[in-house]
Amino acid sequence: MKIFLDTANIAEIRRLNELGIVDGVTTNPSWVSKENRASREGKEGREGKGKTFKEIVQEICKEVKGPVSAEATATEASAMIKEAREISGWAKNVVVKLPTTAEGLKALKAVSEEGIKTNMTLVFSANQALLVGKLNATYVSPFIGRLYDAGYDGMQLIKDVVAIYRNYKFRTQILAASFREPREVAEAAIAGADVATIKPEFVDQMLKNPFTDAGLKAFLDSWATMAKK
Ligand code: E4P
Repeated sequence: MKIFLDTANIAEIRRLNELGIVDGVTTNPSWVSKENRASREGKEGREGKGKTFKEIVQEICKEVKGPVSAEATATEASAMIKEAREISGWAKNVVVKLPTTAEGLKALKAVSEEGIKTNMTLVFSANQALLVGKLNATYVSPFIGRLYDAGYDGMQLIKDVVAIYRNYKFRTQILAASFREPREVAEAAIAGADVATIKPEFVDQMLKNPFTDAGLKAFLDSWATMAKK
């Protein structure tokens, strides 16, 4: 399963990219505006308006070789298509995120024919994912955590989408999103998701294990008692 980072924070992307486990990045308007705010407040030495959407996306695309999702914010198909064309020109590895609405599907059909890579976002039902798969989007993003937040079984959605896509041999990759707990990443992998997009701190939590730390300490303590020549 591929791991994407769900953030627009370039410092975190750089830090984790060094581990070699980052296959791509997903951003959304909330992550991008957070990054803009940070740069505006001078946290990265930027004053005034801070980094633009385009600058943020291009910086991430330079750091990460894999796909980087950037979200179109228009709500009407023709405006979305225009925006998708513009965003897709920012870097070779940009994927345009579109909302899973009727207007989003119209835009998906049009931009796919032009070879623009797409990530259909805000998917909360198997039926929405079925429609996205029929149109051969590059990625479909079912949101697990927001379903859990509302009292539904988020992981069941991943299982259902995997089953549907296998039945019909859809090529769209299943990009599980909106995780709440690190253990859900392994659950999504077991369910057969192609990608999990996770917050940077999840990588640290996935890696950290007290048994590993204790085991390493014991080995190093034994090693220290060995006679050296
Ligand atoms: C995915 O692409 C979204 O950016 C993200 O996973 C949303 O997660 P949230 O529900 O934690 O906002």
